[in-house]
Amino acid sequence: MSQTRHVPVMLQRCLDLLAPALEAPSPQQPVVVDCTLGLGGHSEALLAAFPSARLIALDRDKEALRLSGERLAPYGDRATLVHAVYDELPEVLARLGVPKVQGVLFDLGVSSMQLDEADRGFAYAQDAPLDMRMDQTTGIGAAEVLNTYPPGELVRILRAYGEEKQAKRIVSAIVREREKEPFSNSARLVELIRDALPQAAKRTGGNPAKRTFQALRIEVNGELTVLERAIPAAVESLAVGGRIAVLSYHSLEDRLVKQVFAAGAANTAPPGLPVVPERYQPRLKLLTRGAELPTEEEVAENRRAAPARLRGAQRIREEER
Ligand SMILES: C[S@@+](CC[C@H](N)C(=O)[O-])C[C@H]1O[C@@H](n2cnc3c(N)ncnc32)[C@H](O)[C@@H]1O
Repeated sequence: MSQTRHVPVMLQRCLDLLAPALEAPSPQQPVVVDCTLGLGGHSEALLAAFPSARLIALDRDKEALRLSGERLAPYGDRATLVHAVYDELPEVLARLGVPKVQGVLFDLGVSSMQLDEADRGFAYAQDAPLDMRMDQTTGIGAAEVLNTYPPGELVRILRAYGEEKQAKRIVSAIVREREKEPFSNSARLVELIRDALPQAAKRTGGNPAKRTFQALRIEVNGELTVLERAIPAAVESLAVGGRIAVLSYHSLEDRLVKQVFAAGAANTAPPGLPVVPERYQPRLKLLTRGAELPTEEEVAENRRAAPARLRGAQRIREEER
């Protein structure tokens, strides 16, 4: 498998956002966590750009860890790679004896490897078993979700995670078809969605199966539930002055990140206090104005960067509110 075809998204901007925390003179070695190692593109750049830093990188996909392990081997013990779901960050840091870190990066979603390896079932463009598990050692795959979930639950998932307006129509077709024969491969699902949608709905938004596939992937991997725990945990793990950067690829992820950052950056004092006590003061400073987007040049060179939204924040206060 070639590792060169994967181009890390908004790489320079991620490095710039984290740099002040990783370059500041400090008696201890700065630690940066890449919560989504993938093929190691961002991780390798972090190791190269911040030669005094130690990298701890997490992924729930063992294949990603194996490939990146080879790629990052030249960095020796500056890189520690861990098989973990990213909401386990506090336990991982405790196990490694690292109380606080200076930088955290999340590059959410699936990796190019997961998309490119047809047999993992993430891509609607190729026929493959409907699996979609990022960690193939645990949990249930997309086919089981499709074949066993009650119709109401499937509608909820397609609406919530795929923002699919035609969820009811698609789920009726799925239920009809699965009674004839359970789903196993992606092509049958793609075809069914195409047939189930009215003409008008097919004219907008690219491949009509895209939203259903996104919804199934999020459900199979519990992506939003995990992220909801992981972003606050990551903020918690930052030392004062530490910085976090998060790349999201759809509005549900980005909304969640935005909410956590906004809550951390808010002054929660009751109105009218002449002096704001420390416990009401923000714990975070926002480093990006809204979400930053990739440049047109980057999108032209790397289509997978197109939906990216980047947000950054800095920890400015220690105490819990
Ligand atoms: C977009 S890729 C990261 C690509 C990486 N930044 C690079 O430059 O090569 C996202 C990676 O995060 C992993 N991942 C997604 N959700 C995860 C989770 N909840 N916990 C741990 N890893 C996760 C996926 O397995 C995938 O390898």
